Parts: sequence; structure tokens; C-alpha cells
Amino acid sequence: MVARTAAARKTVWTAPPQRESPVAFAVLFLYGSPLITTMNKVHTVQGQPVDARRVAEALGDRSVVLIGMMGAGKSSVGKRLAAKLGVPFVDADAEIEAGARLTIAEIFDRFGEPYFRDGERRVIARLLKSGPQVLATGGGAFMNAQTRDNIAAHGLSIWLKPDVEVLLARVRRKSNRPLLKTADPEQTLRRLLEERSPTYALADITIESREGPHEEVVETALERLAQALGCAGQPAPLARRKIEVPLGPRAYSILIGAGLMDEAGAEIAKLAPGARCAIVTDAHVAPLYLERVEASLTRAGFRAVSIVCPPGESSKSYGEFARVSDALLAAAIERRDVVIALGGGVMGDLAGFCAASLRRGVRFVQIPTTLLAQVDSSVGGKTGINSSHGKNLVGAFHQPSLVLADTSSLDTLSEREFRAGYAEVVKYGLIGDRAFFEFLERRWRAVFAGGPERVEAIAKSCAAKARVVAADETEHGERALLNLGHTFGHAFERLTGYDSERLVHGEGVAVGIAAAFRFSRFLGLCSGQEAARVEAHLEAAGLPTRIGDIAGLRAGEDEILAAMRQDKKVSRGRLTFILAKAIGESFIARDVDEANVAEFLREELERRPD
Ligand SMILES: NC(=O)c1ccc[n+]([C@@H]2O[C@H](COP(=O)([O-])OP(=O)(O)OC[C@H]3O[C@@H](n4cnc5c(N)ncnc54)[C@H](O)[C@@H]3O)[C@@H](O)[C@H]2O)c1
Repeated sequence: MVARTAAARKTVWTAPPQRESPVAFAVLFLYGSPLITTMNKVHTVQGQPVDARRVAEALGDRSVVLIGMMGAGKSSVGKRLAAKLGVPFVDADAEIEAGARLTIAEIFDRFGEPYFRDGERRVIARLLKSGPQVLATGGGAFMNAQTRDNIAAHGLSIWLKPDVEVLLARVRRKSNRPLLKTADPEQTLRRLLEERSPTYALADITIESREGPHEEVVETALERLAQALGCAGQPAPLARRKIEVPLGPRAYSILIGAGLMDEAGAEIAKLAPGARCAIVTDAHVAPLYLERVEASLTRAGFRAVSIVCPPGESSKSYGEFARVSDALLAAAIERRDVVIALGGGVMGDLAGFCAASLRRGVRFVQIPTTLLAQVDSSVGGKTGINSSHGKNLVGAFHQPSLVLADTSSLDTLSEREFRAGYAEVVKYGLIGDRAFFEFLERRWRAVFAGGPERVEAIAKSCAAKARVVAADETEHGERALLNLGHTFGHAFERLTGYDSERLVHGEGVAVGIAAAFRFSRFLGLCSGQEAARVEAHLEAAGLPTRIGDIAGLRAGEDEILAAMRQDKKVSRGRLTFILAKAIGESFIARDVDEANVAEFLREELERRPD
């Protein structure tokens, strides 16, 4: 987000551009736009539902550009429309004023109209490169032929055409319009309207309105956009999804949706009626969600004990494994009972390994509460703890009987942890689903904000993982594809001492994924554009992509190579990489020449800032 916005704000106006305040960035980062929660309201087109999400999806990275006279309501309508679509609202006049550090009236006074028009044309051209968005333009902007062509190339135009009396009334209330500083402003407005209307009429959509609430204009705009984009009447996305992991006798379901935690008892009762339950969670998650899960189990008639571990990677230890196992034995948990992992990947791996070894295998349910755990670690049955020799070196394959991914639990996750998990989501698109990657490019803000896009992205990720796991449960072949970015990423994690202050796992994966694409380009396997596109998306979502982005990592290429050799994916001394021919076309390269890796790393490190 930060990088994308910064890139999009390259100076085209003469004065230095002004950047959003950190608070505005934070709000936009977290919520996409301040009113995003209303974005899925359903309207109707001739009796058929119009879903704002479908309109936004069909829009892709194009912008909706509002044109028309001053006082037509472009800003008020634009803000509301943007909120419904879940895209940013941008006011071209405000951008110009911020860039020039002068009001429009002052620019007119000091430099004259032609100077203003030229700057306006350049600012709009720049803004149009940053869609999707709703862009409100000044009254004269659409009169410029180059701007019209640019709008046609990057978006859909809507002429807001209120009744002339309404315009007059609104304009009378504001006296700062430079073009109306005449002896007879009303006459000037009528003349301007007459002159401009034939050009305004070239817009893709015209909305005529009399005085009335802006909401009505917004609803009409949504309906007309849906018609223009051919997505009127399409069904709303499912709020809940179910993915099957088809592993024969070890098959299980992944349920995805908001509020599933409260149904844990009812869902577990379908699998193990009358069982005892033991919830294993950590001290961050316990105060947030333990009571809810316990209450749900009680409602379903279960007796349950809870075991709370310290949060963080240090709990994947022999000590904690022994402590939790003993607590499970003390609670008389037997084979047909259920161990429930409630938390992130650490709790899933630890509780899963305890369940795998306790009485040679106890039933196990995952309630993942981090994005990483929902899209990755809770699915596939890998469980384990760390040893002084390395991460995840002691463990077992033990499939859960059920995964309940409550997407609303991610609302309490730190922004950094959410982003880190998002790297794994992007990974699935890059491995084998270009369309999913393109969906993420368009809709990542909505995934961050929650709602149906989040459910959709998690479901797509789980389905991708389920497919690979079903084909290769114990990682003898294709499952290695899931390690895209991990050979590099694990080396960076090792070199930063697994210090989550400096680098969390998903951030290592993000740098690793970007490096894997750059390495693929280095080897002549994929184009520079593809590698740059991957990097741009990760950066847009606020993830690191360069070795230089990792705090205090001073290692040279030999140390990085040595760290890669210690990865458990090294087979008989040969390095395995997941490389790519293109986005969505990754493959396993088992015999990569170390000399090439060293040369690539040298190049990468040369770009590291001192
Ligand atoms: N088994 C697998 O296939 C697999 C795959 C990938 C990663 N992993 C493992 O997963 C672990 C990383 O998982 P992680 O990133 O989820 O880390 P984590 O479990 O340590 O969770 C990250 C932090 O978020 C907190 N947290 C969890 N849910 C929260 C919520 N809803 N609200 C607020 N805070 C919350 C946790 O207490 C912790 O402090 C690593 O140990 C990694 O090896 C396993």
C-alpha cells in the first residue's frame, strides 16, 4: 500500500506533492476505505440484485470517473460510491491543491486558466494509473480531449447531471468557484453548462437527478455500472465456504466463515459425540477466544479442559511438548477424544504433534486464528516442534479431523501478522492460479478489510493446498511446490535468529517469493515483467521484497548459501528451489547449480543499501 501509493504519487505538478498523513494511511491500509463495511448492500436492477462486490470485481483496476459541472455532487456521491465498491475515493482538485500547495482559485489568479488546465490534465493522467478508485474531476477536466481519451483507456465515466436549478442553488451557497467570479454568476453557469453539455454527453453513463439524497444517485450509479459492466443480477458471494481434503480414511472438511468458533461444539459433536475435549491455546489467544470456544463446547454437551501455553515460537519446544502431553494425560484424553488447537501455527504444530504422539494418535481439530494458520499450517497434517538443530525437525504427519477457520478472529490479529499471512495467500496464486493472483491484485484491500473477499481468498488458498496435499500427502513430490519462496525465506529466518522482531515467517516468505521470481528471471526462465509484477503486488500490500528490507541482515552470499544448505528441503546435498516460468506456472527445480545461486545472491546483495 505504502509503496504503491508512493509510486503513484510521482510529481507531475510543479510543487512538491503532499503525502497522506500516517493516520490516513493506516485507515486506508486497514479498511481499504473508511466506509467499506457498507459495500455489500444489494440494490436492484429491474428486479434483479446488484452486488457492489461484483461491480468492483468487474471493474478490475479501472477507475470510475465522475464528471460534470461544479456543484453536481461529484465529491459527495464519489465518497459514498467508493465506500460501496471498497475502493479509494480520490478528488482530482484536492490532489492538485495539495500538489501545488495553493487553492484552485489561487492557481487561477496567479498563473491563469491555461496553466491550471495543463496541470489538471497531467494530474488526472497520473491518478488514472492508480485504479481501481472513484475519481472526482473538476468541471472543465472532461473538456480536454487528451483527458477524455485517458479516462476511456483507464476507466468508466459518469456524468452527474443535476437539474440546472439544483446546480444554481448549490453553487450560490459556495463563492469560491473561480469561473463564477463574474458580474452575473448565474448567467455564467448557464452559459458554461450549455457549452459543456455536448462534451459531457460523451460520458459512458449519464445520471440525471433532481434535488434529493446523494444515496439515490449512488444507487443509480451502481445499477448503471452493473449494466455497463455486464454483471447485473449475478448472485452475491457465499459468506461461508466448505473445502474437502480428500484423503480417503483421513479425509476432512475445512469450514471457512465468520463466527464459526461459536459453532465449534456443534461441528465437533457431528464427528465425536460424547468425547472429552482438550483445548490447547496460547496466552494471547486465550483472553480473546477461549471462553467462546469453551461455551460452544458446553452448549453441545462436551466436557472440556483448557491448556494455555506461552505465545510464540518458543512453545514449539521439547519442554512445552512434555508439559502439554502430561496435561492431556492428566485430563484422561484418550484415542477417541479430541485435542483442539486454538491459535496460530505455533499452537497448531505443537498441539498437533502432542495429538499425534499421545497414545499413538488422538483425534485432533484445528481452530486457526492467524491468517497463516488458516491458509497454510492448519491444513495438510504437518505437525512438530523445533530442535536446537533447526526448525520443525521433530514432528509427524497427523491430519486433523476438522478445520474451523473463523475469519472474524483475524480482526484482532496485528496488521503485521495479517500481512505476513497474506504472503502465503499470494503464494497460491503464484504457484498455479494466475487468475487468483489477478483477483488479489485487484481486491487485496477488501481481503484485508474482511467480508466476502477474505472468505474467498482463504477458501481459494485452502482449496489449492488441499489439492496438493491430496496428491502428495507426505511430500515426496508435488507438495514441495508449496515451498515457493521458502528456500530463500528459511535462510533469512535462520540468519536473523528466528527473531520475530526482525522478521516474521511470512515476511521471510515474501522476500523469498520475490527472490525466487528474480532468480527465475536471472536464469532466463521467466520475464522481468512477471518478476516485477510479483514484487509490486507484495510491496503494495506492505510486505518486504528485498534482502535489504530485512533489518540488520548483513550476511554475505556464502553465509546465505550455507543457511540454505541447512534447510530440511536439501536432499543429498542438492538445493531444491521452486522456480517459475510465469505467474501461476511454478515448478520444482531439484538440481540448481550453486554457482548460479551464489552469483544471483551477489547481485542481490550489491543492491542492498549500506
Ligand atoms: N504445519 C505446517 O504445515 C506449517 C506451515 C506453515 C507454518 N507453520 C508454522 O507456523 C508457525 C507460525 O504460525 P503463525 O504465524 O500463526 O504464528 P503464531 O502461532 O506464533 O501466531 C502469531 C502471534 O499472533 C498471536 N495470535 C494468534 N491468533 C491471534 C488473533 N486472532 N488475534 C490476536 N493475536 C493472535 C499469537 O499469540 C502469536 O503471538 C511457525 O512455527 C511455522 O513453522 C507450520
